[in-house]
Amino acid sequence: MKTKVSIALVITLTLITQAVKGQTSSYSKDQKINFKVDSLLKLMTVKEKIGQMNQYNGFWNVTGPSPKNGNAKKKYNHLKNGLVGSMLNVKGVKNVKAVQKIAVEETRLGIPLIIGFDVIHGYQTLAPIPLAEAASWDLDAIKNSASTAAAEAAAAGINWTFAPMVDISRDPRWGRVMEGAGEDPFLGSKIAEARVGGFQGDDLSAPNTIAACAKHFAAYGFSEAGKEYNTVDVGTSTLHNIVLPPFKAASDSGVKTMMNAFNELNGVPATGNTYLLRDILKGKWGFKGFVVSDWASIKEMVTWGYAKSNKDAARLAAIAGSDLDMESYAYVSELELLIKEGAVKERTIDEAVRRILTVKYELGLFDDPYRYCDSKREKKVINSKASHAAVLDMAKKSIVLLKNETQLLPLKKEGQTIALIGGLAADNNSPLGSWRLASKDSTAVSVLEGMKRYKGNTLVFEKGADVNTTETEFTREVKVNTTDKSGFPAAIAAAKKADVVVMVLGEHGFQSGEGRSRTELSLPGVQQELLEAVFKVNKNIVLVLNNGRPLTINWASENIPTIVEAWQLGSQTGNAVAEVLYGDYNPSGKLPITFPRNVGQIPIYYNHKNTGRPVNEQANVPDFVFWSHYGDVENTPLYPFGYGLSYTTFNYNAIKVSKKTYQLKEDVKVSCVLKNTGKLKGKEVAQLYIRDLTASVTRPVRELKGFKSVTLDPGASQTITFTLTENELGFYNNEGNYVVEPGMFEVFIGGSSQATLKSTFELVSK
Ligand code: NOJ
Repeated sequence: MKTKVSIALVITLTLITQAVKGQTSSYSKDQKINFKVDSLLKLMTVKEKIGQMNQYNGFWNVTGPSPKNGNAKKKYNHLKNGLVGSMLNVKGVKNVKAVQKIAVEETRLGIPLIIGFDVIHGYQTLAPIPLAEAASWDLDAIKNSASTAAAEAAAAGINWTFAPMVDISRDPRWGRVMEGAGEDPFLGSKIAEARVGGFQGDDLSAPNTIAACAKHFAAYGFSEAGKEYNTVDVGTSTLHNIVLPPFKAASDSGVKTMMNAFNELNGVPATGNTYLLRDILKGKWGFKGFVVSDWASIKEMVTWGYAKSNKDAARLAAIAGSDLDMESYAYVSELELLIKEGAVKERTIDEAVRRILTVKYELGLFDDPYRYCDSKREKKVINSKASHAAVLDMAKKSIVLLKNETQLLPLKKEGQTIALIGGLAADNNSPLGSWRLASKDSTAVSVLEGMKRYKGNTLVFEKGADVNTTETEFTREVKVNTTDKSGFPAAIAAAKKADVVVMVLGEHGFQSGEGRSRTELSLPGVQQELLEAVFKVNKNIVLVLNNGRPLTINWASENIPTIVEAWQLGSQTGNAVAEVLYGDYNPSGKLPITFPRNVGQIPIYYNHKNTGRPVNEQANVPDFVFWSHYGDVENTPLYPFGYGLSYTTFNYNAIKVSKKTYQLKEDVKVSCVLKNTGKLKGKEVAQLYIRDLTASVTRPVRELKGFKSVTLDPGASQTITFTLTENELGFYNNEGNYVVEPGMFEVFIGGSSQATLKSTFELVSK
């Protein structure tokens, strides 16, 4: 029989001894936790320490009888023997309680598990996919959306989310662009902070907050050719200026965990990358939380050709600073021997375990391991009215109006016949988007249902064609419908009779996400044909796009008068879309990622370098070809970063820089006047970009360095002022050091990355 030590008792006794000596009263909360962790570590055997570094996926029906054989039995035994520190994909109070009970009541030390789950855009009530949320540029709303997700997840027994994904990506072929905040490190950093703040709240031990996890450290979004899990080879400048800033922002805002990435970075897998994990994250940035591997990414270092064996992989990962092994079984099976052989120092694992235990203490799990297991709260919070109100608000804010040339929008509320066309229009499942492991299938409000709530018009629905024929998360790819056009005639007939046609077309929700890279970004299947067929009979088309990534919609952009980017907006999709189409909500979203004209332009992003041969400066020389361009398509994107319209119009003018010359550390103030020149009240996201004209490392032609949302009544104007500090005016040099250099800067303010209102200033050193 095991001797069961009560951690609480040992630590309380030690605390009493300290208190008697007058040593504890002035300790901060952090110091007390450090002290408790140290005391606990002293009680632990090497095996138990390694157990804390081991994470298993949920492995059997936990409330049923214990597993009899196979892997599940092995995992179960490990759990009972204190060899599991964390589990993922166990959800619901009943199930979490069952595994927690084993950890707490059956193991020698009774250390509680930390329970992780992919709460990516909501738990059961789903918010828009993260890329869509980023289009709101509304940090308060994004934070609120993360706290709503945290509250639901925490009510289901979960205390740790594997979010936010803060990977910057310039490649919409990569399926996981849907999961991030787009292409820009400044916007990405602000959103990372907002999401971490939303998940973790002000008090991590509160029952409605959970630990966040910034992932995937690092550079996963730069997978070559946008192909999932591919090689990443990025230079120093891109690594420090584009890839790392959102991770640093997450670390600075106190994110409790980070996940490393599946990819290799310049030849070294991220999971075994000492430079990333030890030198930058835990060294330079002073990150105090713990690092979890990605699923099996420790053992995949063998497949990469970096580690010789599982054992070698465990050694490399532990030394590099990966603290918790997700599903490689490498630590639990190899670390003990590695320590005995002296290949891994015990102090290396002590450091990892200290980090893991600290987060468990901060979550309050030692005070009450069942803190997140309240079935009354579970019933009350999940799918509550408050959750749905929050995700509806977020959904409306995420919609981007791309085109409204003939003012078809907002739709008239009465006396119209509206033909609603497209398989996605009646779909309750696809709008939930990828990553919704805890939500029930087909629970989104469809666009059809949302539009039906407006009763003044005659609404006729014809699907025309489905996008896909199957839909299964994880196991299979979506099968796109490339043949079935049987619904075309009815759709065309309905369009003929309609005043306005609303067509909901795009990608199925499972066409983006993990493992879902694509090389073709046009409308999948027969949808382009359907669009053109309908256009032949009725030109009054409002195209509502559903997608998890930028699509190449050149034809639509040239021909269709009205285009609304509606992404996958989660549980309340149809209500959000209907409110925007009918003008009860005036759209204000702005693209967080560039829309290319064709796939060949990728990577195309706004903050590119100038090159030595930028625009056709020899434009007056006919047929001059020696400049940076393609022979068959323009250099410009279809829709640029930061772009988005409103039902009203805005004008920017009177840009002012408070001085012409500034000392290096002085703040630079830039203002302009924004006027609502249209007929409706509206919100505009005013954006400020800089260009550092000459530097020791070349700088992009534009860099976003500030944005502000301003709501104005028709005819009203407001002066908006931005302050640029040294945090915005510098960059990372090729040694990875942040520098602010003297020289001339251009500054632009406007409604997109193509803003034309411009001024200049100079930074000087005395
Ligand atoms: C693999 C994904 O890359 C990661 O983002 C996710 O959190 C884990 N699987 C766990 O599901």
